[in-house]
Amino acid sequence: MFHAEKFIEKTISNLQKEIKGKALIAFSGGVDSTVCTALVNKAIGKQLIAVHVDTGYMRKNESEQVKQMMEDLGVNYRYITASREYFQALKGVEDPEKKRKIIGEKFIRIFEKVARKEKIDYLVQGTIAPDWIESGGGLRDTIKSHHNVGGLPKDMKLTLVEPLRDLYKDEVRKVARALGLQVSERQPFPGPGLAIRIIGEATPERTRLVREACDIVEKEIERGAEQGLLELPWQYFAVLIPIKTVGVHGDKRAYGNTIAIRAVQSVDAMTCHYSTIPHEVLDTISTKITNTLKEKVNRIVYDVTNKPPGTVEWE
Ligand code: XMP
Repeated sequence: MFHAEKFIEKTISNLQKEIKGKALIAFSGGVDSTVCTALVNKAIGKQLIAVHVDTGYMRKNESEQVKQMMEDLGVNYRYITASREYFQALKGVEDPEKKRKIIGEKFIRIFEKVARKEKIDYLVQGTIAPDWIESGGGLRDTIKSHHNVGGLPKDMKLTLVEPLRDLYKDEVRKVARALGLQVSERQPFPGPGLAIRIIGEATPERTRLVREACDIVEKEIERGAEQGLLELPWQYFAVLIPIKTVGVHGDKRAYGNTIAIRAVQSVDAMTCHYSTIPHEVLDTISTKITNTLKEKVNRIVYDVTNKPPGTVEWE
């Protein structure tokens, strides 16, 4: 059985032996990177620099919240705004694997720049078991290249440290609880961010649409759970499908995009079952999205696919 306290003790002692200098950690504010940061911070203190990159594909107000989290953790940090660079790099790119690889490589190039400037030799990542299992390697098929695995360029100069490599999400959450981190129950958010929740090209305008829709889905599902209407799903979000359909707004013809609502239950992200959301909650989400994104979105669908055969994210 997994024992969080023992894991923490052993990991801190291993990290002290493994890291012989300054280290950089990619901080997204999710459970994995927060747990990782807390552990490495305990092991090497100010020798660690947490770096958060605002890629432009973060959720509503997320980067500001992440900044506050780094303050609260008392970690040495750098905050980098790179949205223009990311939007430029993804211009015209539709293929999901290409999107993932471009985003992953961009992260590393930014980290390398910081590392050169600050004379850092180690890169710490919060990679967990499902990330590398599903990214292929060895005998396994590549389901999708998780950005913190598949996007690593071959010529990367930094030495990689991955303290959570053997853990599954439920175990990471146990470590988070043992460390007293509030983030322990936060729903997962993928490294490539909203870019993989937009089918096709992830333009700034499409990102704005999916960001608003994601915010509404999160708020309404959390409100429903607080009112006891449903059990909070493991993960819940919106996906933009850039397929236009005909609708009607007031007495006018509409011709807009489609938003899919995705909500799933899972234990370790290796499999999932779609959540049953009460129709009154779906109704509110549908009305709020189409009212907020008038003329842009006029159709809302609910995804009833399990994993397998689907995956949690659409790309
Ligand atoms: P999939 O879509 O592969 O997702 O069924 C399983 C879990 O992993 C998250 N996910 C990612 N997490 N980097 C991450 O850190 C990624 O590139 C990535 N892609 C998917 C997804 O949100 C779900 O929780």
